[in-house]
Amino acid sequence: MTSKCVISLDLPEDIVAPLRDQFDLQTWSGKEAMPEVTLQDWLADAEGLLCALSTSITASVIAGAAQLKVISTISVGVDHIDLAAATAAGIPVGHTPGVLVDSTADLAVGLMIAATRRIAEADRWMRTGQWSQGWQSDLLLGMDLSQATVGIVGLGPVGEATAKRLRGFGCGILGWNRTPKIIEGVEMVDLDDLFARCDIVSLHTALTPDTVQIASRSRLASMRAGATLINTGRGALVDEAALIEALSSGRLRAGLDVFETEPLPVDHPFLSLDNAVLLPHVGSATLSTRMAMVTRALDNLRAGMSGEPLPFCANPEVSGLRG
Ligand code: DGY
Repeated sequence: MTSKCVISLDLPEDIVAPLRDQFDLQTWSGKEAMPEVTLQDWLADAEGLLCALSTSITASVIAGAAQLKVISTISVGVDHIDLAAATAAGIPVGHTPGVLVDSTADLAVGLMIAATRRIAEADRWMRTGQWSQGWQSDLLLGMDLSQATVGIVGLGPVGEATAKRLRGFGCGILGWNRTPKIIEGVEMVDLDDLFARCDIVSLHTALTPDTVQIASRSRLASMRAGATLINTGRGALVDEAALIEALSSGRLRAGLDVFETEPLPVDHPFLSLDNAVLLPHVGSATLSTRMAMVTRALDNLRAGMSGEPLPFCANPEVSGLRG
């Protein structure tokens, strides 16, 4: 009998087609996230799950999936999966490290420039017919990246790739990492110092219980007036209520690709703040990067379904246990 595999997101048919020959697929085709109750129902007799950030794989989902041999997510982050529960159940979790580093670092630097040079704001301003005079000496003034001190919180692959790009701009670079690291051109400092000394703070650390609201109310309050917070990591790294207050008062600017609640509700306060550049979680959204992520996720899925170690496993201690 062919093994059953659940795909909890709508993927293009040319990606799914090759899997049809190997597995009995049950695929969620809704544009909205798959409801947990449906996921639980579908996983009752499934051996594989291919998912992404839009599906929360909770402990109770895992508990009800007695046949599950592998969870493969099309993402590097695994914070939407209860990794401890998967590990305790002996289910390897595949993810996609490495391939989205450059795309995400590019977007982080893009957001720095967009926020500090007010690109999105200027575009909105033009489109609403406000450009009634010619060149004006004080119109939409911003800050030069070359003169800024940029702080990088989390010097994993994406943080490091961001630092590499920033060296080319000639700005000062401060860094903080959970474990000590030496990186060319980066002055490693204490986290509180980093927030207090930088013109731009960019978040690149993984979301774990220790890093929730690492950009806390007090750290945001310590940032220089006119400084910018960039987040391409996870929304929950930031105390969003405190950030909204700092943006509303005009004290800070922000460039945000990720939010605690995604999709961002249409009446969310961020949407009315002109000094925040907002993107819909597109850090890895280039065609080649998304293809590389999918390829990695399918390799993980196939390996797990055959009881082999996953090429990219987030909990390698259990790889293949249920094989
Ligand atoms: C990831 O892979 O974790 C990213 O957030 C998706 O862009």
